Amino acid sequence: MIQSADNLDYHTALALLAWQVELGADEAIAAAPVDRYALRDQPKPKRAAQAAPEPQPVPQADPVAEARALAQAAGTLDELCEAVADFTHCELKQGARNTVFADGNPAARIMVIGEAPGRDEDMRGLPFVGRAGQLLDRMFAAIGMDRTAPDSEAALYITNVLPWRPPQNRDPKPDEVAMMLPFLQRHVELADPQVLVLMGNHSCQALLGMRGITRLRGKWAEALGRPALPMFHPAFLLRNPVAKREAWHDLLMLQARLRGGA
Ligand code: URA
Repeated sequence: MIQSADNLDYHTALALLAWQVELGADEAIAAAPVDRYALRDQPKPKRAAQAAPEPQPVPQADPVAEARALAQAAGTLDELCEAVADFTHCELKQGARNTVFADGNPAARIMVIGEAPGRDEDMRGLPFVGRAGQLLDRMFAAIGMDRTAPDSEAALYITNVLPWRPPQNRDPKPDEVAMMLPFLQRHVELADPQVLVLMGNHSCQALLGMRGITRLRGKWAEALGRPALPMFHPAFLLRNPVAKREAWHDLLMLQARLRGGA
């Protein structure tokens, strides 16, 4: 007698199976014979398509919030430099050879803020070391200041809004500036300079929210709670040497301020 197992409980089914094995059953067969040759030629039943899982919303990283948290967590300039170098949200990093953090003496009274590294800076990992940087060094040497000076009175500290070179030296994009700005703000806090010098339009845009360097230069402004002097960028001066007259005027203003004058 062949019994359907559908309405048997587990233990009864197991006992029946054991009994059948004891009787010599060595193969499981159904009540009706199956023609396997005919089955072979029939199209295989398709597996039921598995329902695709519902796409789950991927939480988007907020690069600006992340930059802010990482920057705030840095307690020293070395830690900040490391945090900047490890920050992966800015696409510029992919194309850069080096992270350009700063150069000079962090104890300096002046912190110069440029735009972004160029080719030479990217190669060497230091800001303002190409032609524009050499002019910058000569400009500050004219008022007795030098990035290599150990004495904070005569020293300079130099950085950029962006630590990575934009491809083909294109202008920084607003989102790139926005996500790197928390690092720059923390950089200024930790270096704690007496005054900032904002080199060119991009630096003014990032820190003053304004551009128009011809109008802004030579007038003291305030950035990040400190006196800030916008100046023509040395790369602009290389292309427009007649503007060096105004740059000289601005350097003298800076010197007077540091001497306790205007
Ligand atoms: N121009 C900048 O603004 N920064 C540099 O470091 C070099 C050129």
